[in-house]
Amino acid sequence: MRILVVHGSKRGGTAGLADMIGSALQALGHDVTVVPARTVGTLPSTDAVIVAGGIYAGRWHGDARSFVKHHQAALAALPVWLVGSGPLDDTAEQGTFQLGSSVLELAEQVGARGTQAFGGYLSADAKGFPASSMAKTHAGDWRDPEHIERWAREVDAALAA
Ligand SMILES: Cc1cc2nc3c(=O)[nH]c(=O)nc-3n(C[C@H](O)[C@H](O)[C@H](O)COP(=O)(O)O)c2cc1C
Repeated sequence: MRILVVHGSKRGGTAGLADMIGSALQALGHDVTVVPARTVGTLPSTDAVIVAGGIYAGRWHGDARSFVKHHQAALAALPVWLVGSGPLDDTAEQGTFQLGSSVLELAEQVGARGTQAFGGYLSADAKGFPASSMAKTHAGDWRDPEHIERWAREVDAALAA
């Protein structure tokens, strides 16, 4: 199937996560396109859409929110998953991290098949405040390839059903 993966990413972590999701779905036989959410004007013809966004101060990245609002009608007619990339620890992998209302309300509006949180990424040399300050104690890569591949198999199974 044709799957469009779009991302809202400030520091590249979610862009990388979207690539990992894309590669995992491609390995399962899908025809995947991964692009920044803000570059999509007219929604291309596709069989499913995954929207990934970084989480900042509890809120989903603005590009991910705008994408879903702008394409709400088209997305409501497609299988859609909304993905948050955030926690700089293993809570996403453990399944205890809760996505906030900025993701969950949009998921309801488009009748999303599911929402999913994955661990985030923060470089040790992150620039700007408060990122540089956070990086002193929270730098790391919590994007777990096995977790991502496991979830991609769930998406694949849902699309096949
Ligand atoms: C200033 C700042 C605030 C953040 N706030 C949150 C937050 O509220 N919740 C969360 O889970 N992660 C938070 N994070 C972690 C980011 O969501 C994580 O680094 C994510 O991978 C960033 O994606 P990006 O690199 O695509 O911008 C924060 C990171 C920074 C630098």
